[in-house]
Amino acid sequence: MPALCVALGFSGCNLRNSSSAGATNVTTPAKDHHTLSNADSIAVTHLWLDIAVSLDQKNITGSATWTISNTSGLSDLRLDTWDLTIDSVQVDGVKAVFRMDAADKYLGSALHIPIAAASAKVQIWYKTGKKARALQWLDPEQTHDKKYPFLFTQSESIYARSWIPCPDGPGIRFTYDARVKAPAGMLALMSAENPQVKNDSAIYHFRMEQPIPAYLMALAVGDIVFDAVDARTGVYAEPGMIQSARWELADMGKMVNTAEHLYGPYRWGRYDVIVLPPSFPIGGMENPRLTFSTPTIMAGDRSLVSLIAHELAHSWSGNLVTNATWNDFWLNEGFTNYFERRIMESMEGSGYSDMLWNEGYEILVDAVRDMKDTSRDTKLSIELNGRDPDDGFSDIPYEKGSLFLRLIENNVGRARFDTFLNRYFNEHAFKTMTTAHFLAYLDSNLIKGDTALQRKLDIKAWVYGTGIPANCPKFNPVRLRRVDSETAVFPVAKESVKGWSTHEWLYFLHKITGHTDKEQMKKLDEMYHLTLTGNSEIAFDWFMMALKAHYEPAYGKMEEFLSHVGRRKFLEPLYKEMMDTPGDQDMARRIYAAYRKNYHPLAQESLDKMVK
Ligand code: BES
Ligand code: ZN
Repeated sequence: MPALCVALGFSGCNLRNSSSAGATNVTTPAKDHHTLSNADSIAVTHLWLDIAVSLDQKNITGSATWTISNTSGLSDLRLDTWDLTIDSVQVDGVKAVFRMDAADKYLGSALHIPIAAASAKVQIWYKTGKKARALQWLDPEQTHDKKYPFLFTQSESIYARSWIPCPDGPGIRFTYDARVKAPAGMLALMSAENPQVKNDSAIYHFRMEQPIPAYLMALAVGDIVFDAVDARTGVYAEPGMIQSARWELADMGKMVNTAEHLYGPYRWGRYDVIVLPPSFPIGGMENPRLTFSTPTIMAGDRSLVSLIAHELAHSWSGNLVTNATWNDFWLNEGFTNYFERRIMESMEGSGYSDMLWNEGYEILVDAVRDMKDTSRDTKLSIELNGRDPDDGFSDIPYEKGSLFLRLIENNVGRARFDTFLNRYFNEHAFKTMTTAHFLAYLDSNLIKGDTALQRKLDIKAWVYGTGIPANCPKFNPVRLRRVDSETAVFPVAKESVKGWSTHEWLYFLHKITGHTDKEQMKKLDEMYHLTLTGNSEIAFDWFMMALKAHYEPAYGKMEEFLSHVGRRKFLEPLYKEMMDTPGDQDMARRIYAAYRKNYHPLAQESLDKMVK
């Protein structure tokens, strides 16, 4: 690796790639096509955020002050915005004449601020708009306790710009301080050093000392309480949920220790989780120091906590070593999926993690089938330029990415691979990484010209090829083979399912989805009360089966599920299944019309296109 590239922290650096891995031998600089900011030429190093959150008016008002170092002497600082009203701008205390470009469909509007070579502080007074895509404002009925309104943000991938005027690309990092005025009686939390109790003023101060990219900016405001798990981990939730959340996440402390044991020290101080109201549109978000989680992981038996292992793992893969652009998204998610399974293996044994690997493999097979294996988005290195970065969001970066790493592990041996990963995280901490740089690093530090190994890995097929490469690892989990024999005769015996975890159930349901008729569904339901399950993953699979088999006794519970759960992973396939079945389209329209208001703006955006 050329020393210059290391010194430059990789971004914007040409690097000669001597491995057989790349499609070409020379990589191009990491140009991020999803930011309009020029902060890669003007160092934008620190944010001082001073905002007030109004849960009544559903807006954020205040100012963002950026510390800059304009060493290249440019005369125009560009920042990203999306539906923000900019009231005024000062550069070093002097009013500046700013201007805004017309909005791009995906990227929003660039805010132009005139600066001089010596300019050091740029302060922007602004308010958020009604179409802020990062913000979900909940009315009391949409929360767990149904007493107070709530706000949470979701900034990944390019939504931070809808609540902060900022350089909104994963390749630009900054530290921040914030002062947030919340409504009386509410607590505010950020991806930073956090308060644990409310105060009378409802003004809270935050500090994030490690440089992070904008997509990790996060804020939650509501009636939130805290309960410690151990000295450095704890849980936040609404009062009515705190006890069950604390119980479900009791192993968090152990999880952080396990992760550190694998890949080196946790570098962010505390690790806390906030369990959000059910409309949170995703499973989890790795906001530094404070993972945001869906409440749908609360299965009552701790069986879905691998999601927390995943978000925690991002404290290394993603938050420490960050994908340079959204084209390199697999570097965040594939590594994290791999790391997640290693944490789960350490905690629960390989019998358990093998089930997760197998689940992932099956998800990949389905995804590639659904995307048709010629689809360009089944490559690890994808091309999102000129597209919505959300188009790159699929199971591919997660599952194909982690299976690629597993393949390397299988070939070089775990000890060598772990040493490599430890060094990788350490040497690139707080830096960005492109696919090409990773492959070059892999080549010089692990493959080292071993041509037999190169042939066995076939990196080119994995990274630049579509579909599932022939050498993809496969799994044969003992526990699932047991399920196979236990379920050979229908219906499954009660004694068999007693020992099943969520993952055995998911395997079984996945296997029979689409091959089960109404009568069999009825029989299964009588024996196992699947319609009434409190486990969201099992419920989701069961409702999908019910729709396919027209098993109507489950429809009432499915509607109840759709009335309050906002997790897109569940919503979108259920509505799609209904819309694909002519007889169920009216049901989809009726349910969507009734509960659309409960869904996140981004879920509404995609469902509006689907449910017509
Ligand atoms: N960082 C992702 C969530 C994300 C990705 C948000 C892309 C927006 C754009 C997070 O770490 C994640 O992967 N969450 C998963 C859960 C995980 C266990 C696979 C989710 O939300 O389903
Ligand atoms: Zn993730």
